[in-house]
Amino acid sequence: MYIKQFFEPKSSTYSYFLMCEESKEAIIIDPVQCDIEKYLEEIKQQQANLQYIFETHIHADHITASHTLKTLTSAKSVVHKNSGVECADVFITDGCDFRFGQQLLQVLATPGHTNACTSYYAKGYVFTGDTLLINGCGRTDFQGGSAEKLYQSVHRKLFTLPSETIVYPAHDYKGNFSSSIGHEKEYNPRLALHISQEEFIHIMANLDLAYPAQIDQALPANKLCGRVQTSDCD
Ligand SMILES: [Fe+2]
Repeated sequence: MYIKQFFEPKSSTYSYFLMCEESKEAIIIDPVQCDIEKYLEEIKQQQANLQYIFETHIHADHITASHTLKTLTSAKSVVHKNSGVECADVFITDGCDFRFGQQLLQVLATPGHTNACTSYYAKGYVFTGDTLLINGCGRTDFQGGSAEKLYQSVHRKLFTLPSETIVYPAHDYKGNFSSSIGHEKEYNPRLALHISQEEFIHIMANLDLAYPAQIDQALPANKLCGRVQTSDCD
């Protein structure tokens, strides 16, 4: 399996292009509208056949490239059924499987950062969205967020994956590219194994975070699968 990680600096977002090298069938996770040219170039270079566009959740900090990619390829867009996004092609829940060529992508419902957060597992890699970040996690104070649910999603689901599983998150703000389940179990300052659910809920309730800068533009746009004009890419 070929994996390419893309970084969009304005929202510090990681997107992932995964391809079966034998069949050239590919998928993309969390594409950002402002990086559309990079994805199209990658698809062209790899001579890939894009099958699916997956969202880990409905983003509040950038506009998805889902609609544009659907228009320019034959790929189908995929979101969790709780997302409230009616324009998607496929609505998923825990346990769904997707094939691209000889590769298998498995859906892990991991609510908590939002009520529709989903992680995706493929061959030793887990794409965790904002559920599990490198030494952190997404906030839980909007979009149906719940610290209790996030803790359970991480401890009961993501932390049951093998320790060597590579963690690819939706963001990093400190220049890290990836982590592992083993590292996060031991060192994540909010979610490591030794931290109780009560301690985690207390941490999340006292973060004192600012209102997200892009949320009023990003959420309505992403509920339309990113089908909007945007000139805000600089
Ligand atoms: Fe998010």
